[in-house]
Amino acid sequence: MNEADFILGPRVSRRSVLRALASTPVLLLGASNLAAQTNLTGYWLLLSPVGDGTYRKSYFYLQQAGEAISGKVLFGNRELPISNGSFNDGVLKFDVITHFREGTRAISYSGRMKGDKIDIQVNFPGRSPMTGTAQRTTREATLPPKPLPLPALRDLPDNGLVRTPPMGWNSWNKFAGRVNDQVVRAAADAMVASGMAKAGYIYINIDDTWQGERDSKGRITGNKKFPDMKGLCDYVHSKGLKIGIYSGPGPETCAGYEGSFGHEEQDARTYAEWGFDYLKYDWCSAARIYKDTDMRPVYQKMGEALLKCGRPIVYSLCQYGRDDVWGWGARVSGNLWRTTGDINDTGERMDEIGFSQFAIQHYIQPGHWNDPDMLEIGNGGMTDDEYRTHMSLWCLLAAPLLAGNDLSNMTEDTRSILMNHEVIAIDQDPAANPAQLVTYVGKLMVAYRKLHDGSTAVAFFNRTEKEDEIGVEWSAVGIEGKELQARDLWKHEAVTVSGHYYPTKVPAHGVVMLKVKAA
Ligand code: GLA
Repeated sequence: MNEADFILGPRVSRRSVLRALASTPVLLLGASNLAAQTNLTGYWLLLSPVGDGTYRKSYFYLQQAGEAISGKVLFGNRELPISNGSFNDGVLKFDVITHFREGTRAISYSGRMKGDKIDIQVNFPGRSPMTGTAQRTTREATLPPKPLPLPALRDLPDNGLVRTPPMGWNSWNKFAGRVNDQVVRAAADAMVASGMAKAGYIYINIDDTWQGERDSKGRITGNKKFPDMKGLCDYVHSKGLKIGIYSGPGPETCAGYEGSFGHEEQDARTYAEWGFDYLKYDWCSAARIYKDTDMRPVYQKMGEALLKCGRPIVYSLCQYGRDDVWGWGARVSGNLWRTTGDINDTGERMDEIGFSQFAIQHYIQPGHWNDPDMLEIGNGGMTDDEYRTHMSLWCLLAAPLLAGNDLSNMTEDTRSILMNHEVIAIDQDPAANPAQLVTYVGKLMVAYRKLHDGSTAVAFFNRTEKEDEIGVEWSAVGIEGKELQARDLWKHEAVTVSGHYYPTKVPAHGVVMLKVKAA
């Protein structure tokens, strides 16, 4: 979650807005009450329309002494103190200082009384202002809901899906909150037209921000950006592809949209009825309700719901690698589990995530994969050498390959990286052996993976700023025999290797990847 999401609060549907307002205390009006009426002391709920039919919801507690206003903005279990607050002539002003990764910043609120409500504008540095209406509420309304009863732990059966790491596309890295029905249809079209589908990419996955309100029976609907979920699934299926959806066990998702809290089975059934084939289930606001050690039963609950929803659905756990998920992810019927926090489109973050994965490689098995997050290839923030490292490393690790770029708009280089069938074949190798790191001299590394046909994928990674030579003793990567056949998987040509030691030049932040077989 970024600073803006934290401070602006979650988005909510109209129904939950109505629910919240129903618990609003009625103000006593009357001449003798005029002073009390204009004293702002108390809890307030600020609702701001987002534009897709949902609202952002945030709370504050105000304390008025004369014209001075103090108090706090409340978000989940966290509170940010109000400063420079005043209420004068019906005009409310205050600031909130945030200390986030992005730095320390002041967010200024200005409001004007309108009856018993306050019209408020929130000025957030670097973003267009957000407007909304604040209404009195109770302290109870600001608190997170009580935890749900959790199932007794048991090992769920394997759903039999994704025997090799899932391949597809996910909307988040490129489109974030701008994803909509057209973007998803266009991704499906481009998946086929570009040749990506032929290369093995088949899942078209919608990430956060599709959710609208729940209907009178509690059934989730798409928001204005997604008017016809079933129609969208049918469309993606008509292209020969599969389609994925996103939710989480908390009341709100990371972008503040409606989560599956208390609706797990119902949501699983709804996804199945619409025709979804894949669910990414993101911890987010569940952190306000549960402890990390509750993660396994919480994920088991949705695992059970998916197993009985009547449709095979890939189950993707997203809780950022907490509570050693690789040890229990498969036992809640998980097919993949995120092993880290979010990736971004920088060489540093990709490198940090990718090279941290070797220690947990032995947890992968057919149908159950470590997920070091989605690809950033083609999004523009890295060099092509870095993107080749990204692709090679993810494939060596047998990571899910979920492209995160705009498939309708790919350069030749992006295509050739994402659709390198020789490197993809390493990712999809049916043996699912763990990749192993063998040598590293500073930031020059060699890693390998034994493949089902007795050959070995060997990757030479140069994590430094300048070209360098990296070498390996074949015996160190378990390759024996005098006559070796080798192929360079990026140059797509045979390489002559002789002797027991092989050195190769590797560009800065780049990679050389070979497939080697003893004759
Ligand atoms: C979290 C996840 C991301 C993405 C966003 C959506 O940060 O880790 O992959 O799904 O939520 O809000």
